Amino acid sequence: MITVSAPGKIILYGEHAVVYGRSCIVTALNCRLTVSVSETEDGRVIVRSPNCKDRRFINSTLLIAEKELNIKHKGLNIETKCSFSGKYGLGSSAAVTVALHKALAALYKVAIDKKTLFDIAYRTVLNVQGRGSGCDVAAATFGGTHRFVTGGRIIRPIDTDGIPIIIGYSGIKGSTVELVGRIAKKFKEEPEKLNRIFKAIGKIVKEAEEALIGRDWKRVGTLMNFNQEYLRDIGVSHEKLETIISAAKKAGAYGAKLSGSGGGDCMIALHPDGISGKCAVSEAIRKAGGEVVDVSPNAEGVRIEKS
Ligand code: MEV
Repeated sequence: MITVSAPGKIILYGEHAVVYGRSCIVTALNCRLTVSVSETEDGRVIVRSPNCKDRRFINSTLLIAEKELNIKHKGLNIETKCSFSGKYGLGSSAAVTVALHKALAALYKVAIDKKTLFDIAYRTVLNVQGRGSGCDVAAATFGGTHRFVTGGRIIRPIDTDGIPIIIGYSGIKGSTVELVGRIAKKFKEEPEKLNRIFKAIGKIVKEAEEALIGRDWKRVGTLMNFNQEYLRDIGVSHEKLETIISAAKKAGAYGAKLSGSGGGDCMIALHPDGISGKCAVSEAIRKAGGEVVDVSPNAEGVRIEKS
């Protein structure tokens, strides 16, 4: 039996714009999804995956691994465990895809470097979702914090440690597929406006990369606020997210924004004390009706836990 784990992710800047060829900054979280795989002889594939209700990512991984890694099995037992709920939108689908590809490659002794693993896992996710930048796949594969451009055209590590963010869940489930589709429709209707906004977000991302490296937390926060204004403008924010973001800022956060596709899911706030978990901002998020998700950024990428 092989056991492999991969981390979840959160986007610090550049969501949506990254789908249109701009950069985003994504960081891996220390919450992990674990996949255990063993071979059987009865020709059946048994999946026990209580936390991953959407089996399409597992099914698509099996098909693509067979084709691209030349894996021929006689039957498999697959079990997944997740230390974080799929409701948060923290990249559990990408994590299960990356972890399962890695586990299958290890079980059948197929050598696979991280870039190849990223490429096949990204194709697997596209096979299911049809659209997406792959930043969640990059975080699950490489870990750490990266500036990332769609499809992995750029995956550049950002040398930063201990980014003091606090993550708040809005309690509302957003749908990435629906929101990415909504922006695609808007892009067709108003290409100039959307291009202008995405270009501006791209500039914010490049400045944010420098601010993160320089640990200039005031600037890191201010750039989050700028990014949030554009996200609101393209219509992917939500009343509840806005309430929590504004409560976090009133409590002293240097900046706050939604994170991911929006329409609900999570927000992030930045405060130098955020890393300790004891911070007025966390309390304000809770009081505004959010749930503080106790995870930290810059975690390790996919790894073999047991073989
Ligand atoms: C979703 O977590 C982030 C988006 O930018 C979509 C993507 O990058 O695939 C909205």
